[in-house]
Amino acid sequence: MAVYRIYTYPERILKHKAKEIKNINGGLQEFIDNMYETLHFASGVGLAATQVGKENALFVADVPVGEDKRKIIAVINPVIVESEGESSIEEGCLSVPNFRVKVKRAARIVIKGYDRNGKDLVLEATDLLATVIQHEMDHLNGITLMDHASLLKRDAYIKSLKKESK
Ligand code: NI
Repeated sequence: MAVYRIYTYPERILKHKAKEIKNINGGLQEFIDNMYETLHFASGVGLAATQVGKENALFVADVPVGEDKRKIIAVINPVIVESEGESSIEEGCLSVPNFRVKVKRAARIVIKGYDRNGKDLVLEATDLLATVIQHEMDHLNGITLMDHASLLKRDAYIKSLKKESK
């Protein structure tokens, strides 16, 4: 297994749209294992393929859901088929270190896609899991937290990055 480098804002790859995965094979399964490894190494709750520089429509998540329970998922070619309600949680992102912003999302979603073995997958999600999934699907569309931030917040963050690199 391997830990991938996680690309960070403002690296261009984060703006790329992921492409549909046509071939679910051993190579992809190895990639998924490495995505989990990378996610856990970085202590994150979700990771999209575009964050490690691959334009694959795929994300993994490992999210606490209630006491002592976790939902661990890998979803290939995810599509939101139902969404309702509204929820606003302060989010962070492995690709935008030291930055947090509240994002309005649907409170409940149903997604469709494929699991790591290529089997049809339908998943209903609420609360934190719904937020994480929508956040990861944003990544697959080339959208980061920075696109949800106010101009003021974004400018302040860019300034802080410049200071760091000096
Ligand atoms: Ni993120």
